Amino acid sequence: MSEKILITGGAGYLGSVLVQKLMESKKSARLAYHDPKYKEKVETPSFYVWDKVTVYDNLMYKQTPLTNYCYRGDFQFVQGDVRDEEKLLPLVKEADVIIPLAAIVGFPACEADKELATAVNTNQIEFILKNKKPSCKVIYPNTNSGYGVGEAGVHCTEETPLNPISHYGKTKCAAEDAVIKDDQIAFRLATVFGVSPRMRLDLLVNDFTYKAYKDGYLVLFEWHFNRNYIHVQDVALAFIFAIQNYEFMKGNAYNIGLSDANLTKLELTYKIKEHFPALSVQCDSIKEDPDKRDYIVSNEKIESLGWRPYYTLDDGIRELKKCFTILGPSLNQYTNL
Ligand SMILES: NC(=O)c1ccc[n+]([C@@H]2O[C@H](COP(=O)([O-])OP(=O)(O)OC[C@H]3O[C@@H](n4cnc5c(N)ncnc54)[C@H](O)[C@@H]3O)[C@@H](O)[C@H]2O)c1
Repeated sequence: MSEKILITGGAGYLGSVLVQKLMESKKSARLAYHDPKYKEKVETPSFYVWDKVTVYDNLMYKQTPLTNYCYRGDFQFVQGDVRDEEKLLPLVKEADVIIPLAAIVGFPACEADKELATAVNTNQIEFILKNKKPSCKVIYPNTNSGYGVGEAGVHCTEETPLNPISHYGKTKCAAEDAVIKDDQIAFRLATVFGVSPRMRLDLLVNDFTYKAYKDGYLVLFEWHFNRNYIHVQDVALAFIFAIQNYEFMKGNAYNIGLSDANLTKLELTYKIKEHFPALSVQCDSIKEDPDKRDYIVSNEKIESLGWRPYYTLDDGIRELKKCFTILGPSLNQYTNL
């Protein structure tokens, strides 16, 4: 398999880890070819040989996470806005695989400019689907926040109707509809955590761990709300898994999360406290969390195809603690808020 991969928004939190995994996958495949025993030592779905990776991103956070790969002839970077259709079109037309990550991400950023959020999160996905070549594989990341408020004790499956409550959720679910109608693959991602070269601290696990590290205390609103989580490295591996198993998976949406980590915000805090024993936690019933998501999720559909996460919540918290020690306490620029 030798393919041209286009990743829009590839300089973001997920994208920069995905690019890293793709770079490693090609190297791992080469090593395994020369020494088959190497194969047993690395994450299994990481052997994948491609031809060229192109990242298209407007660098809206002035981020620089991909500089490591500029030396490679098989890596291309184009700075541009996905709404600049003339610039994007030739890249869409030549791609064998498209992973459209570019988006206005998160509840507050989308509420701040709804028109922009619709243009970037929904309209540009429709543009890609309309203009790609017929054989092109598209793997799209939706958020599982589309499940909105779930029924107590009942796992949301891919059959559970989507009921997005925020503008962010609505724009993402509208794009997922178009992706599935086109017989492509959609992921419904849990809240992602872990370290990325383009860090985000506005994600729940990253945010709580950062506060535990920096302040030593956490104030929780609506601590009983259930959330679910997935490590950023596992998301990147899931994209590669989907490229490799495209024929079995196409035309479907898949939940991607840790099946043993459907935890309330308070339970998540207890996990973090195991790594920061002095952490003090206060539950505040006066204030409200504007993000009303509350649901538990089943990941059985993709697990039945053989995909498994490698990294636990404890791995992520340990890794975040190490990362914050390196970056120091002034990390306010790493947020989408
Ligand atoms: N991180 C999560 O927890 C999570 C969960 C579910 C779904 N997702 C989806 O995954 C994708 C990536 O999310 P992320 O966490 O990496 O966010 P991010 O904000 O770090 O990445 C988004 C990237 O898109 C780029 N971008 C934004 N607007 C653009 C435009 N108009 N033109 C070109 N590039 C543009 C940004 O510069 C950034 O590099 C998004 O589609 C998001 O909705 C993320």
